[in-house]
Amino acid sequence: MTARAHTAQQTWPAPAKLNLFLHITGQRPDGYHDLQTLFQILDWGDELHFNVNDSGKITRSCNIEGIPESEDICVRAAKLLQDRCHVAKGVHIDLQKNIPMGAGLGGGSSDAATVLVALNKLWSCGQSQQQLAEMGLELGADVPVFVHGHSALAQGRGEKLQAVSLTPRYYLLVFPGFAVSTAQVFQHPGLKRDSKPIDMASAGLQPGRNDCEAVVMEMHPQLKTLAQAISSWGTVRMSGTGSTLFLSFADKKAAIGAASELKCRYNVRPVEGVDCSPLLKVLERV
Ligand code: C5P
Repeated sequence: MTARAHTAQQTWPAPAKLNLFLHITGQRPDGYHDLQTLFQILDWGDELHFNVNDSGKITRSCNIEGIPESEDICVRAAKLLQDRCHVAKGVHIDLQKNIPMGAGLGGGSSDAATVLVALNKLWSCGQSQQQLAEMGLELGADVPVFVHGHSALAQGRGEKLQAVSLTPRYYLLVFPGFAVSTAQVFQHPGLKRDSKPIDMASAGLQPGRNDCEAVVMEMHPQLKTLAQAISSWGTVRMSGTGSTLFLSFADKKAAIGAASELKCRYNVRPVEGVDCSPLLKVLERV
């Protein structure tokens, strides 16, 4: 196999994230909200394959239905990079979606980041990580953290990032089986938008409060019922704007033990928190 063919077959990971805490400190004139959050990158997520071609076209196949190709954030990310860098080549993107949509785990944003990072390499665009992160911010507030590929404290819309090293932790993700619209949560009149900003330089790098939780549980009462049902396993948190709930464990065996107890009643997945994204590890190798 030639080096080029090998690169084309490479699996490019798009990891999920958790918001270990999420504070909303205000609403901005552009309608977005100012946040303070702690992003934990996970060792699990979606997977993408890229086949570069000379057609100039961007096409996509996906293992699940329901995302029209033209609206897919992967296709939009590829078009953005192609336009900005005047790329004549095309690509076929094959997306293996494992992260549920509308789950608060950053699946779409991570897919977009992986497209930008991978195609920057495969199309030889020569964009810096910062340039890719800025492009990513045009696609979504959570894209930059996945481009930088490190667990991080974040401010602004989520793009002002400070990489952190987190104590190794394991999480049990609990999927309630429905999607939450991020835009609807941020538009909700009852959303707490006035958290006092904390000093991020001395922020505790631990799971904490999520200001979106109260309105999401009001919009979806079954989520509150689920949180109560699993609360004997530890403090239940919600990631992003939901719908995923998570429990945190210092010990891998404890997370796997909780998963085997809960899996007959709930859709759960034990995962590991990582400081460095598996995407960057692939990028170093190709
Ligand atoms: O940027 P993204 O597409 O993920 O955001 C989805 C929606 O969530 C935005 O249209 C905006 O209404 C809201 N949002 C916000 N403040 C943020 C991030 C998202 O108001 N910091």
